[in-house]
Amino acid sequence: MRMRRAWEGDLPRMNEIDRLCYPQEKALPGGMFLFHLRHARILVAEGEAVVGFIIGYTKGRTGAIKILDIDPGHQRRGIGRRLMGAMEDELSAMGALRIYLEAAQENCAALSLYHQGGYSEGQLLIDFYGRGRDAWRLWKDLNRASGPDAR
Ligand SMILES: CC(C)(COP(=O)(O)OP(=O)(O)OC[C@H]1O[C@@H](n2cnc3c(N)ncnc32)[C@H](O)[C@@H]1OP(=O)(O)O)[C@@H](O)C(=O)NCCC(=O)NCCS
Repeated sequence: MRMRRAWEGDLPRMNEIDRLCYPQEKALPGGMFLFHLRHARILVAEGEAVVGFIIGYTKGRTGAIKILDIDPGHQRRGIGRRLMGAMEDELSAMGALRIYLEAAQENCAALSLYHQGGYSEGQLLIDFYGRGRDAWRLWKDLNRASGPDAR
C-alpha cells in the first residue's frame, strides 16, 4: 500500500468511496473534489486500486483535515492511520504548527482514530452536519507531538 498525491484521474474513484462511506447521504457535488484537488492537498492510499483518501490544507500556521474516507471493504487495516500520518507530514512541511479536524459526535471509529493520533476535543459545533448532528472540532499541536513517542 502506498500513499501518493491525487490527480484528476482519481476523482471518480474518490466519489465512489465517498458514496460507499456515506450511502445514506446525498452525494457530494461532482465538482467538489476537483475544487479540493486545485486548492487543497489530496493524498490517496493505493494498493491494487485506490482504497482511501484524505484532504487537507493550510491557512497560515494552521492546518485542517477536511475529509478522510476509507473504502468500507478495506477499513480497520491501518490505512486511515497511515493517511493521517502522511497528511500531517505534508501539512507540517507546508508550515502548519497545529492541525484541526471535525468528527460527528457519534462517529466512534473516527474519534478513536483521532484520539490515538494525539488529537483532543476543542469546540462542540452544534448542528455542524445538519440539524441535530453535532460535531467535535479536535486539535493537535504538532510541536508538542514531535518527540520520540509522537505517533
Ligand atoms: C474512520 C475511518 C477513516 C478509520 O479508517 P481505518 O483505516 O478503518 O482506521 P485504522 O485501521 O487506521 O484504525 C486506526 C484506529 O482507529 C480506530 N478505529 C478505526 N475503526 C474503528 C471502528 N470501526 N471502531 C472503533 N475504533 C475504530 C481504532 O482505534 C484503530 O486502532 P486499532 O485498530 O489499533 O484499534 C474509516 O472507518 C472511515 O472511512 N469511515 C467512514 C468515513 C468517516 O467516518 N470518516 C471520518 C470522518 S470525520
